[in-house]
Amino acid sequence: MGSQKLHSPLLLLACVLCGCLAAQGCLEKERTALLQLRDSFYHPRPANLSEWPTWVGEDCCQWAGASCQDEAPRRVVFVSIAFARKPELGGMVVNGSLFAALEELQELRLSNNQISRWIEPKGMLGLKKLTSVNLEENLLTEESVSWLFNLPSLTAVYLSSNRLKSSSTLKAFCGLKDLSSLHLSFNTMEGTIDPCVSNMRSLQVLFLQGNRLTGEIPSLSKLSSLRTLNLGQNRLSGVFYFSSLANLANLTGVSLVDNDKLEVETEHPAWAPSFQLEGGLLLSGCSLNRRSGRRIPSFLSTQKNMFLLALSRTSIQGTIPAWMLDNVANTLVLDGNSLSGPFPQLEGNRTRGLSLLDLSKNKIHGPMPQNMKSMLPEL
Ligand SMILES: *[C@@H]1O[C@H](CO)[C@@H](O)[C@H](O)[C@H]1NC(C)=O
Ligand SMILES: *[C@@H]1O[C@H](CO)[C@@H](O)[C@H](O)[C@H]1NC(C)=O
Ligand SMILES: *[C@@H]1O[C@H](CO)[C@@H](O)[C@H](O)[C@H]1NC(C)=O
Ligand SMILES: *[C@@H]1O[C@H](CO)[C@@H](O)[C@H](O)[C@H]1NC(C)=O
Repeated sequence: MGSQKLHSPLLLLACVLCGCLAAQGCLEKERTALLQLRDSFYHPRPANLSEWPTWVGEDCCQWAGASCQDEAPRRVVFVSIAFARKPELGGMVVNGSLFAALEELQELRLSNNQISRWIEPKGMLGLKKLTSVNLEENLLTEESVSWLFNLPSLTAVYLSSNRLKSSSTLKAFCGLKDLSSLHLSFNTMEGTIDPCVSNMRSLQVLFLQGNRLTGEIPSLSKLSSLRTLNLGQNRLSGVFYFSSLANLANLTGVSLVDNDKLEVETEHPAWAPSFQLEGGLLLSGCSLNRRSGRRIPSFLSTQKNMFLLALSRTSIQGTIPAWMLDNVANTLVLDGNSLSGPFPQLEGNRTRGLSLLDLSKNKIHGPMPQNMKSMLPEL
């Protein structure tokens, strides 16, 4: 009897609590802001319901493409509206004021929407907690992204595949001291890489691939957090000394591919790497070790587990050392060089995971090893 009496108030209390929590699901002003945002990206609204987020219900924290912090008040911290704009509709204009209510937003993804312009960008400046912005695959120019430079909380910016035309954009990002990840690949940025990049101490990832950058690569020796560097497919020149990266202990991947005026020097001055390039090294289409006998980079013998090594068209000479086949885990491309001598013996009884090996257009002679099939079973 007594227990039943106890149960009902408990049940009642539970219901009240549930009700409260549901009501606290999301703030009305944030819910309204999200719906306005959706409607501006999906305008005109697609007839087919499956092509846009229906976003029904009071609790916007439950909607696909939005999420909230766990503790009350459950403010919206993440918004993703990607692939909303149909290509045939052409460029779209984003109204920054629509974001003003989302004051606690931490991550915003608006990639693949053909955004060409921002109006009322002041609305974005209230987003003081914003750390990550993904605007890849849009039509943005320098003027349309200038609001980003006023958000010092940013740690990750994705702006690859837009219409940024000048390296001044890169320079402007130097002002964001906490930036750890900067993606500006596949734009048409012209000009040099400003030396201010040398002081971006928080940088872990720098992607500038596929632009029209010219001039020398500034010193990266103080970027102690750097993990991945991609400056490939530009028009960089001068001499890049690999020794300048010696102390970047967290470095795992470097690409400088297809900068045909860039000389990469790995032998001088003498140095020893503190890193392991487990992602890989891509120097294809650069001029490698012109001042040191076109040698195969000797530091690679210390890199024990490279996923990928690409040294095509670098003019290197000499015989392929046996360690090279041991150190590369997946892909080794050495075509279009002056490598000579026999193919190295595959010693020991250890099989290797190499799946792609390209040695074409060299001067290698003699028979291939008989045990190739058993030593390189994945090839
Ligand atoms: C709506 O879109 C989905 C996914 O694109 C598609 O599978 C479906 O056939 C479409 N329905 C109509 C009525 O066009
Ligand atoms: C941008 O959005 C705000 C808030 O909804 C609205 O008041 C303003 O008129 C919009 N601006 C333009 C140019 O549409
Ligand atoms: C290198 O990476 C480790 C592990 O992620 C991290 O703890 C350390 O702080 C990093 N070092 C630098 C200098 O960023
Ligand atoms: C490979 O060699 C090691 C020692 O040289 C030996 O212990 C191991 O059994 C060998 N493995 C195979 C598969 O023959």
